[in-house]
Amino acid sequence: MTKTITRILLTGASGQIGSELLKVLRRKHGPANVVASDIQPLADPELCDGGPFEFCDVTKRERIEDVVRTHGIDTIYHMAAILSATGEKNPQLAWNVNINGTYNILETAREHGMARVFIPSSIAAFGPETPRANTPQETILRPKTMYGLTKVAGELLADYYVRRFGVDVRGCRFPGIISHETLPGGGTTDYAVAIFYEAVKNRRYTCFLREDSRLPMMYMPDCLKSVTDLMAADFDRLRHHADFNLAAMSFTPAELAAAIRVHIPDFAIAYAPDFRQAIADSWPTSIDDSAAREEWGWKPAYDLPATVKDMLDVLSRRQAEGKLNT
Ligand code: NAD
Ligand code: SER
Repeated sequence: MTKTITRILLTGASGQIGSELLKVLRRKHGPANVVASDIQPLADPELCDGGPFEFCDVTKRERIEDVVRTHGIDTIYHMAAILSATGEKNPQLAWNVNINGTYNILETAREHGMARVFIPSSIAAFGPETPRANTPQETILRPKTMYGLTKVAGELLADYYVRRFGVDVRGCRFPGIISHETLPGGGTTDYAVAIFYEAVKNRRYTCFLREDSRLPMMYMPDCLKSVTDLMAADFDRLRHHADFNLAAMSFTPAELAAAIRVHIPDFAIAYAPDFRQAIADSWPTSIDDSAAREEWGWKPAYDLPATVKDMLDVLSRRQAEGKLNT
């Protein structure tokens, strides 16, 4: 069933994950073979690497078709989405982008006989009735956020397209992603990025989650590796498709602050929980990712101390050069 990947469309290329995935894909496949797309321009023009960019709203099926035909696309990495916190502020938008956008991508992939499609899910697929510690691969999926329910629907739809139409769709339930290139786009785990910028700039941070809110997290290099490893896996070895549990580390804001204090001893943290606390309280504290390990050899490289050291090294260097983006 596995077909060759030659021309790639990346949606959501201006976002936190898309902007870094773009670099990885262009390095691997050549800049001309990876079409970046989003509804907003790429934040860093250097990310373009001379490759093509198309404005493409994923809620507009004809526009996706147009881009696919123009560039002879045979593979889609679908990163365009509305995340949890933004989704709770505007559930109608989250439904439209996440449900209709994902459906449009899958239908386009079916019609054009695409080689492969990557569609991420999230720990937001789980809900308060799910076992929160070491959350199993197969478990209760009753999320209480609009974002979460669009992610469950995306997983089920992806499975349907695999079984019913033979479209090779793959994806993981990402935990909160920590990174230093593009700021996160409105999620509940965003504090775990903002805290590093504030630690480097101001030595203090006010967290919008409680100090004991334990959540699963992952450093960007591991996230990118998971995407490329899963997309390169032998289809015949996969029993799951677009719903792989994925884990790297779990921590609370207080534990993250303590790990930052190893490098910045005078770092201070305060807590002012807002509406995102209820979202965090409905998500797992840790994840069982044994299916991903067994079916395609998933293994993360970064734990909390390694992530903190690398984030602070990069951001401190950027601060010293007067180039710290916010
Ligand atoms: P992001 O918010 O940083 O980026 C999403 C991008 O989608 C943005 O650049 C935005 O402009 C674009 N977009 C929004 N509406 C669009 C539309 N109608 N058409 C085309 N583009 C549109 O998100 P991200 O963190 O890069 O997430 C990428 C994927 O990974 C999403 O599916 C998200 O649910 C999933 N995910 C992310 C995390 C995380 O912590 N970052 C965790 C779990 C899952
Ligand atoms: N980081 C994402 C969010 O908080 C999880 O999917 O929305």
